Amino acid sequence: MGKFELNGIVDPLMKWYNKNKRDLPWRREKNPYYIWISEIMLQQTRVEAVKPYFDRFIKELPTVKDAAVCEESRLLKLWEGLGYYNRVRNIQKAAVQITEKYGGCFPQNYEELLKLPGIGEYTAGAVASIAFDVPVPAVDGNVLRVVSRIEESEEDILKQSVRKRIRQELLEIIPAKEPGTFNQALMDLGAMVCLPNGSPRCDACPLHELCLARRNNRLDEIPFKKKEKKRRVEEKTVLVIQDGDHMALRRRPDKGLLAGLYEFPNYEGHLSREEVLQRLLQYELMPLWIQPLPEAAHVFSHVEWRMTGYAVKVAALEGRKKKELLFVDIVNAEENYPVPAAFGAYASYLNLRLGQEKYTGGD
Ligand code: ADE
Repeated sequence: MGKFELNGIVDPLMKWYNKNKRDLPWRREKNPYYIWISEIMLQQTRVEAVKPYFDRFIKELPTVKDAAVCEESRLLKLWEGLGYYNRVRNIQKAAVQITEKYGGCFPQNYEELLKLPGIGEYTAGAVASIAFDVPVPAVDGNVLRVVSRIEESEEDILKQSVRKRIRQELLEIIPAKEPGTFNQALMDLGAMVCLPNGSPRCDACPLHELCLARRNNRLDEIPFKKKEKKRRVEEKTVLVIQDGDHMALRRRPDKGLLAGLYEFPNYEGHLSREEVLQRLLQYELMPLWIQPLPEAAHVFSHVEWRMTGYAVKVAALEGRKKKELLFVDIVNAEENYPVPAAFGAYASYLNLRLGQEKYTGGD
């Protein structure tokens, strides 16, 4: 079988994009800082959810220099609810390098961008092409889906070798004139038309005639993905401890999942009320009451938490000797302590809103 000729997609795709492109806040000007921040946010989060985070991030940190000097806790707070917190730590590391090594101006070529922390082939391609018109592809999950369907490729799109092949094929056809438009057109087509999980809108697709998976009725099978390994399941018991105006938080370790963020005290396993009482006494806390809270779950990429919880009312929190618990003012906590969205179900018990809820008015 000869190699599929992708060349024919360029014109119809560019025309389609000019008519159908989404109006997104980071598309309104070719600012490499805006494009970079949006691309990092978009790596694990949908466009609609990203918009309010993006607007707030740029409002608080309008330039790369602001991101370089921002205090870490404020930075984490701006990211709260987006998850994958190392991404924002890498943003800061890269911002420092751009400020120090490049005088605050983004390097304008793909290879230099690739050297920055947290910037891989995809992000370097997106920033170089969209901000600087460098003709390099930016291959994300949407692009892999679109191209493998057009080609009716049965290869596993989770494999590095397949991503590399598709990148190479796109490199050969990407237009020199508006490479960023081409890349974004593929992304938008994947997000708006060539939808995953058996629901593509082929009637609205400009590549409908060319697409081999459609012609041969294979849209349910392609893209092909080998099953991922099963996630580890961890059971936890989360304690929402309060004394009136204050609640208990604990800082997570500097390394590992959700490093350096704040959390409600929690324990391995699903504990009984008596076991919870034992833990509280270890903290020298004397509960007035302990009341069970509903179960909740949170799915990360490699692990899933299945949580139960208890609300605990304690008498005054002053005078404890054990310091690993912080008692923070409930009213100020939202502003000052980044708590991951994994604890959202329990935070809502205190009328605290975490992450995305906060920006979507989810109350
Ligand atoms: N997803 C990730 N980056 C994107 C972009 N620049 N345009 C549309 N969707 C995207």
